Amino acid sequence: MFVPDLRVCLTRGAMLFLTLVAGCGSDDGGDTAPTVQRSPELDAVSLKSQRGGTSHEAGNNCMTCHGPNGTAPGRFTVAGTAVTSARKPNPDATITLSTAPNGGGTVVLTLEADASGNFYTTQAAPFPDQSLYPRVTSRATASVNFMPFPTMSGACNVCHVGSNPVDLD
Ligand code: HEC
Ligand code: HEC
Repeated sequence: MFVPDLRVCLTRGAMLFLTLVAGCGSDDGGDTAPTVQRSPELDAVSLKSQRGGTSHEAGNNCMTCHGPNGTAPGRFTVAGTAVTSARKPNPDATITLSTAPNGGGTVVLTLEADASGNFYTTQAAPFPDQSLYPRVTSRATASVNFMPFPTMSGACNVCHVGSNPVDLD
């Protein structure tokens, strides 16, 4: 997260402060250098979610920390959180990414949710060059849910937050 340099803003005078805050803070993702030095050892860690395992931060964007600008071990290519219709972690969810909607075409990646409902991997994914269609099924029920259009990002929880989680009955 970019932190605006308030000292610079303040030297321009209190009258202008309110308007300048937006200007000073708008460099996010712009031409400024990354604020985090991510060590290569962190990227060398291989991780993949497994049935029954546990993890943390359910519902949050894993790539904030497990991504190029974070300092957590393992650089996730795909990660997110599956919940039930009651918005509880869904440990029975299986996520596939395929070249056509609803599991059609070629299945490129399959991930099992862990006990926290989280699914994640560091294995290679073709994003953002290729877009893929997510589908979620349950090993416990016959439920299916799929994204009707493809995503070019594996950071599922960027969009699947609040009232729009990756859910399944
Ligand atoms: C705020 C930063 C942050 C976020 C967001 C975050 N993590 Fe982490 N994660 C860490 C850090 C730091 C560690 C290493 C220390 C630890 O185990 O707590 C870690 C460790 C892990 C580990 C264990 C790695 C190992 O080597 O054993 C897994 C698995 C994991 N995170 C999964 C996730 C998933 C899945 C998400 C998203 C739902 C996520 N994390 C979101 C910071 C984060
Ligand atoms: C750029 C934003 C974005 C990203 C990234 C994204 N999705 Fe979606 N997804 C959506 C939107 C918008 C919908 C439609 C929501 C609706 O119908 O209400 C949707 C629908 C879905 C659905 C259909 C069921 C539902 O909950 O509405 C599933 C399943 C799904 N996405 C899974 C995933 C998975 C898994 C990932 C990560 C690989 C992912 N999505 C990444 C935006 C995104």
